[in-house]
Amino acid sequence: MIELKSAQQIELMRAAGKIVAETHKLVKEEAKPGVSTLKLDKLAEEYIRSQGATPSFKNYNGYPATLCISIDHQVVHGIPSKKRLIEEGQLVSIDVGAKKDGYHGDAARSFYIGEPDEKTKKLLRVTEEALSLGIEQAVTGNFLGDISFAIQKHAEDNGFSVVRDLVGHGIGKKLHEEPQVPNYGNPKTGVKLNEGMTIAIEPMVNEGGWTIRLLEDEWTVVTADGSRSAHFENTIAITKNGAEILTKI
Ligand code: MF3
Ligand code: CO
Repeated sequence: MIELKSAQQIELMRAAGKIVAETHKLVKEEAKPGVSTLKLDKLAEEYIRSQGATPSFKNYNGYPATLCISIDHQVVHGIPSKKRLIEEGQLVSIDVGAKKDGYHGDAARSFYIGEPDEKTKKLLRVTEEALSLGIEQAVTGNFLGDISFAIQKHAEDNGFSVVRDLVGHGIGKKLHEEPQVPNYGNPKTGVKLNEGMTIAIEPMVNEGGWTIRLLEDEWTVVTADGSRSAHFENTIAITKNGAEILTKI
């Protein structure tokens, strides 16, 4: 069942979303060559707790960290480590969730360490645009498939592929609620969108093919062909005035 949220509940989710957005800002500023991904994780956790919130991912199904940091051909769920350093030339995707007063916010951002070349710029731009185009479709009266289709079309029209085995999701009191939000699909299919729905839309876009593989750590997801992948995610609320992005400052 899809849990619709009241205006008061959305207000709480806005607060959680703001903490998530601020965490992204902080972590991106510190993501410089030589810093370990574990250091970034610690920074994020400290900040989230300082705001009276808790990291949503930590201990979720046994996940050991606050952030997911996925580099280059890693798609999602890269585990921060003391041994993994940020380096010039990396395509870094960071995913973070925070729970405040009972409600979660969840967002991901990708960026390049250094000066990106045209190919890298395009991957980042197209993935972020795909997310925006999906969000534009998140209005009352549309269908879930309208979001999915807009994302898939934009990625594929630009020569990229969307990961199909991982999806976005409803979000609220739980990190993952119904419905699942695939990044591919057909217009006018799936559930009808309604005021009060809160969802995390999260396209994962690959330079090569869409198939993925799980590493031996049983978390890190990588592209099967070794091509790079970008990930952008926002938590949004469907309101009578259209989609509102909750994971912004
Ligand atoms: N944004 C991802 C998601 O919504 C992050 C989950 S990581 C996990 O699924 F560790 F919490 F699973
Ligand atoms: Co998510």
